[in-house]
Amino acid sequence: MMGVKILGTGSAVPSRVMTNDDMAKIVETSDEWISTRTGIRSRRYCDAEVGESHRTLVRDAAARALEAAGIEPAQVGVCLVATFTADTCTPSAACLLQADLGMPEDTLCFDLNAACAGFVYGLHVAECLLPGAARPYALVVGADTLSRVMDFTDRTTCVLFGDGAGAAVLERAEGYPELHAVWGSRGDDTSLYAPGVGCDDPSYLHMDGRAVFRFATEVMPRCTTEVLERAGISADEVDRFVYHQANKRIVDYSVKKLGLDPAKCEGNIDHTGNTSAGSVPILLDELVHAGKLGSGSRVLMAGFGAGLTWAGALAEFA
Ligand code: ACO
Repeated sequence: MMGVKILGTGSAVPSRVMTNDDMAKIVETSDEWISTRTGIRSRRYCDAEVGESHRTLVRDAAARALEAAGIEPAQVGVCLVATFTADTCTPSAACLLQADLGMPEDTLCFDLNAACAGFVYGLHVAECLLPGAARPYALVVGADTLSRVMDFTDRTTCVLFGDGAGAAVLERAEGYPELHAVWGSRGDDTSLYAPGVGCDDPSYLHMDGRAVFRFATEVMPRCTTEVLERAGISADEVDRFVYHQANKRIVDYSVKKLGLDPAKCEGNIDHTGNTSAGSVPILLDELVHAGKLGSGSRVLMAGFGAGLTWAGALAEFA
C-alpha cells in the first residue's frame, strides 16, 4: 500500500509584534478582553519596510521545510500554497515560490483557497495528486497575511488575526499510511467574508463571530472523531492533536467534548493570533522544534474556516 509521511516542517513569521496593549491603542479593547475571550496575547504583522510580504513568508517557511526534510527543490513534484491573501491573484503564490526556490517546470504548482482549513485541505489534495506527479515529494504551504484585509476600526475582528506561514514536505512511498482525511464545505457567504482584489466592495473582512464559533465547535470534534474512525485507532494512539488556532475556547471545548488529554492539544495562539492557513503548520513546526513531535510521531490535524470549510487528517512523521 502506498501512502505518505511528513519528512520535515518549517515556518516563518514576521518581525513586527503587536501586543494586546498595542491593539488597545488602535481600537477600544483591552488585554483582559482579548486574552480571556480568545487566549491571544500578541500577533505579528508583515512590515513592508523591512521587505516582508506574503511571498517572503512562503519562501522562508518552504525553504526551512525542505531543509528539515533533506529534500532539494528539484525533487518536488507537487507544490501547493493554501491561502486567500497572496500578494497577487496571479501568478499564484505557488508559482512565485517555484521561481524563488527553482523548482522544475513539471512541478504541479497552484494555490488553494479553503481559508483556515487550507493547509489540511492541501495535505489531502497533495496525497491525491502525488500518484500522478513527476516526483514523489510534495511541498504544502499554508500562508496568510490577514493584516492586508483587516478593518482596523472593527474591534470584533482586527484583534483576532496575525500573519504567518508554515510548510510541510510529504513523501509518498510503499508501506506509508494514508492520511485518512475528512473534509467538507458549506457554502455560506454571510458568517465570514473577505473581498477579492479589485472587488467593488471597499470593505474588509467581515465575520459573525458567534455563528463561526457555533460552526467551529460543531465541526472540530466531528472531524476528530471521523479521522479516528477512518484510521481505526483511538485517541490514545495519537501523539498530538494540532487544531486550527482561532480561539483557545474553541480548542478547549473540543478537547473537553472528546475527553482528550489537554497536554496533547497544546496551542500557540497566545503569540500568533489566528494566522488562517498558516495556523496548523506553524504550530506543527513549533512542536517539532520543541521536541514534542519527531520521527515516528502521529499527529491529528484539524482546521475550519471561511467558506465555510473544514478538514481533518492523520499524519505520521518519517
Ligand atoms: N474588545 C472589547 N470588546 C469587544 C471586542 C473587543 N476586541 N470585540 C467585541 N467586543 C464586545 C462586543 O461588542 C460585545 O459587546 P455587547 O455585549 O455590548 O454587544 C461583547 O464584547 C461580547 O461580544 P461577543 O461577540 O458575544 O463575544 P464572544 O464571546 O462571542 O467572542 C469572538 C467573540 C472572540 C469573535 C468569538 O465569537 C469567536 O472566537 N468566534 C469564532 C471566530 C473564528 O473562529 N474565526 C475563525 C475563522 S477565520 C477564517 O477562516 C479567516
